Amino acid sequence: MAGQHVELPAETLDLHKLLASHATVNRSGIPSNPVADTSPTFYFLDAQQHPHRDLNTLGLPNSHAAFDVHAVRRDFPILRERVNGQPLAWLDNAATTQKPQVVIDRISEFYSHENSNIHRAAHELAARATDAYEKARKTVADFLHASSPDEIVFVRGSTEAINLVAKSWGQQNIGKGDEIVITWLEHHANIVPWKQLCDATGATLRVAPVDDNGQVLLDEYAKLLNSHTKLVSFTQVSNALGTITPAQDMIELAHRVGAKVLLDAAQSVSHLSVDVQALNCDWLVFSGHKIFGPTGIGVLYGKAEILDATQPWQGGGNMIEDVTFDKIIYQPAPARFEAGTGNIADAVGLGTALEYLQRIGVPNVARYEHELLGYAIEGLRGVNGLRLIGTATEKTSVLSFVLKGHSTQDVGDALNKAGIAVRSGHHCAQPILRRFGLESTVRPSLAFYNTYEEIDRLVSVVRQVQAGQIGFY
Ligand code: ALA
Repeated sequence: MAGQHVELPAETLDLHKLLASHATVNRSGIPSNPVADTSPTFYFLDAQQHPHRDLNTLGLPNSHAAFDVHAVRRDFPILRERVNGQPLAWLDNAATTQKPQVVIDRISEFYSHENSNIHRAAHELAARATDAYEKARKTVADFLHASSPDEIVFVRGSTEAINLVAKSWGQQNIGKGDEIVITWLEHHANIVPWKQLCDATGATLRVAPVDDNGQVLLDEYAKLLNSHTKLVSFTQVSNALGTITPAQDMIELAHRVGAKVLLDAAQSVSHLSVDVQALNCDWLVFSGHKIFGPTGIGVLYGKAEILDATQPWQGGGNMIEDVTFDKIIYQPAPARFEAGTGNIADAVGLGTALEYLQRIGVPNVARYEHELLGYAIEGLRGVNGLRLIGTATEKTSVLSFVLKGHSTQDVGDALNKAGIAVRSGHHCAQPILRRFGLESTVRPSLAFYNTYEEIDRLVSVVRQVQAGQIGFY
């Protein structure tokens, strides 16, 4: 993808240093994908067998001692479902995650004992609902390591959060001649609002390319940055490939040219520890339903000074300090971005989901999923005619593939018949699939409640399809 190449001052681009810093262990403490360097002994059980793995960096002496997947599974009632006579294997976690009983119970409790509109009534239930809602905001702030709950805006999901920034800060700050940088990895939700903004303002959209493994080419990305770059918006984990992008380095490089950075964490927060202050992103977005919380609730994190200097995007109740027919004074953030009655109960449910995940421990989740992903990659690689799409060294949770001679829909159907749920299609990320010459893939995607046995079932069904042992009508 052509980008304007503007030389940055030498001190601004210490790229080799930056690249070296995430060669083996990324900023989230997740080791590089050990399968990508073709070691057959990728799946480790102890440090002695695999001395290249530094278990101390993972924060656990032994994952199996600390993480009991079967105990965790009992927290998720839907995992006991049967589909087509088989136990459900939910391998569509990049699309949405399942909900633990505590989240289901919390929402029920809210409607049974606390339901009210918030902030505006002088009665007991309003106080209960307001407390529950604001407690959830504080939980989100703590989860992201934000400096204050005021930096947390509740929205419907990642898509709405990105649109909010595009339609408020973007309209206010982007104009003709400005440039917005994204990457080829982006979900449509992180392409369309920026393209719309560029079309409306005369700004230019620039796209950082990826290599054949699906990793952002950091040198090429850096070449796109210049004094016209006002905004960089990119994903921390690709929903279609699972690539973990070098977010911290990308943010730092963008800041060196004075650009603001939005990080799409929709696919990362359930897999990696995310610290907005360490990352130093200006905004971060995620969706509740992808992190074991309800649908219809999501989060926009923004640095306080940016949120307070940004015009609201929707007008209505809740977000104003004073209204006359001549003049409107807005509340400070976050209220100025929460016009109307929000999704109170599901915000409360999201808070409970984050508390649940924190009790399990994101580092424990990351380590278990890393092992499971390595096992799955190795299993799928053994299937004749199967091409994995997205083989970056740093990768999490997603196993996109195509199978020679079989449509992605047929493979998805065969898996569904066996009780295994995956997504097949373009995953709302057409540009990145086209980068690999494809219109669709089969996409199993993992969460911490998935098991080795489910991976064995997945690989077995794909093998049967490949061998022509499963017919399609
Ligand atoms: N963004 C969701 C996915 O990747 C829907 O499937």
